[in-house]
Amino acid sequence: MVSKNTPIIIIGAGAFGLSTALHLVRSGYSNITVFEKDDQIPPVYSAANDLNKIVRAEYEDQFYTDLAIEAVQAWKTPLFAPHFHQTGFLHCVSGNAPDKAKDTLKRFQDASNNHPYLKPHVVPLNGKHDIRQLFWQCNGQVPGWKGYMNRFDGYAHSANALAAVHRETQASGVRFFLGEHGTISRIVYKDGKCTGVRTKSGKFHAAELVIVAAGAAAAKLVPEVGSQVVAKSWSIAHVHLTDEETSALRGIPVTYARDLGFFFEPDPKTNLLKLCPMGGGYINTDTKTGVSHAPESLETSAFMPHEDELRVRRLLAHTLPKLANRPLVRKSLCWFADTKDSDFIIDYVPNTASSVVLLSGDSGHGFKMFPIVGDWVRVLLEAPDKKQAIARWRWKESNAKEEKENWGGDVSWRLGESRELKDILPGKTKL
Ligand SMILES: Cc1cc2nc3c(=O)[nH]c(=O)nc-3n(C[C@H](O)[C@H](O)[C@H](O)COP(=O)(O)OP(=O)(O)OC[C@H]3O[C@@H](n4cnc5c(N)ncnc54)[C@H](O)[C@@H]3O)c2cc1C
Ligand SMILES: *[C@@H]1O[C@H](CO)[C@@H](O)[C@H](O)[C@H]1NC(C)=O
Repeated sequence: MVSKNTPIIIIGAGAFGLSTALHLVRSGYSNITVFEKDDQIPPVYSAANDLNKIVRAEYEDQFYTDLAIEAVQAWKTPLFAPHFHQTGFLHCVSGNAPDKAKDTLKRFQDASNNHPYLKPHVVPLNGKHDIRQLFWQCNGQVPGWKGYMNRFDGYAHSANALAAVHRETQASGVRFFLGEHGTISRIVYKDGKCTGVRTKSGKFHAAELVIVAAGAAAAKLVPEVGSQVVAKSWSIAHVHLTDEETSALRGIPVTYARDLGFFFEPDPKTNLLKLCPMGGGYINTDTKTGVSHAPESLETSAFMPHEDELRVRRLLAHTLPKLANRPLVRKSLCWFADTKDSDFIIDYVPNTASSVVLLSGDSGHGFKMFPIVGDWVRVLLEAPDKKQAIARWRWKESNAKEEKENWGGDVSWRLGESRELKDILPGKTKL
């Protein structure tokens, strides 16, 4: 049990770190300091520094479905509501989708239909006619598209949601250190217990509890995590629309063909329509350690691999063909912390006398939980036995050999294998 005046440091002001600050300060913890390496919030390095993220309740696994339903309720509370848009989620496969995509889609559809709370919101879709009933702007042929629409779902403006929680927590007394003074170079230990952190600028800050919420950079601060957490990325890009085009697409559902990727309602402030091709993702493995880290410089990630570009252009050709050959702007790889089973890790780091908590392993599906993740940390801190009650969120002892052989391909909701960043960097010839 952590007492309310314990000095607590949170490393990282991305989705998980800010949510934790919010829930802890709301529950009466009075000495919270957040360290963030960027000099602004939303931080450019955060996977959530983005126009939008899908907020969908249905999972193949009911454990997460129930949590996501709870998260959607929380998205409708005053702090979060301005950033949540319940446009519906149009979830399909195209006619050419491989069986793996079709099977996954079916499991998602069954999960929605079999959940009493979601069922009333679900509409089956079988082809062009059904799709245009719910997305009239879709004037492509959507060849062979089949699936469903879940009107319970939608998306969140993730960058704006981060900014809102930053303002709220700061106003409630949470301290923030940003930039050089907020970049943690290491966690400091004495006799097997953490005593604080050291910043890049050289300053030591004392704390009795350090919560690492550093996203894809978790393994840099907690190397013991080994290959439990793999820095992985998907690419994104945008089409820049005119005011009229943005206006005409107002209210469209999040549109996802599992084999082609997804796009969102355009953002009225920037007129950007965001596209993401998904797929198996890209990793950046250090050949010495076998651990994948996000590249240091953002410039390295400022592109969209050719194969991904082809996929999102096909997605547009199927749905909004007028946009299919437009220039793609603001391309980047977006890095997240992947675990083998897509389960989060919310637990004390072993052998630290319960002085360090690792909050990671978002596995690319964590943003929808933004309004509630931090509460799971509070529950852990308040557990009298200092144990994570939810077994799947515990620290996983890593078995490096087995994991190397097994990583990547068998996650049902990803299509394709992970590839190494070095093999897809622009300018590299294809092998
Ligand atoms: C392309 C893409 C699409 C996605 N789509 C969805 C979606 O549709 N729906 C959904 O729910 N989720 C989605 N996600 C996942 C979502 O973005 C993440 O789950 C979420 O951002 C994870 O939060 P986090 O706090 O763990 O990490 P982040 O948000 O990445 O934050 C980590 C923070 O730690 C900081 N940091 C790192 N190292 C240090 C250090 N040494 N010192 C100080 N600060 C440090 C970083 O600067 C960063 O701000 C997507 C992710 C990607 C990449
Ligand atoms: C918070 O904790 C730090 C580190 O122990 C300490 O120096 C500081 O006085 C505390 N602040 C408050 C308001 O208790």
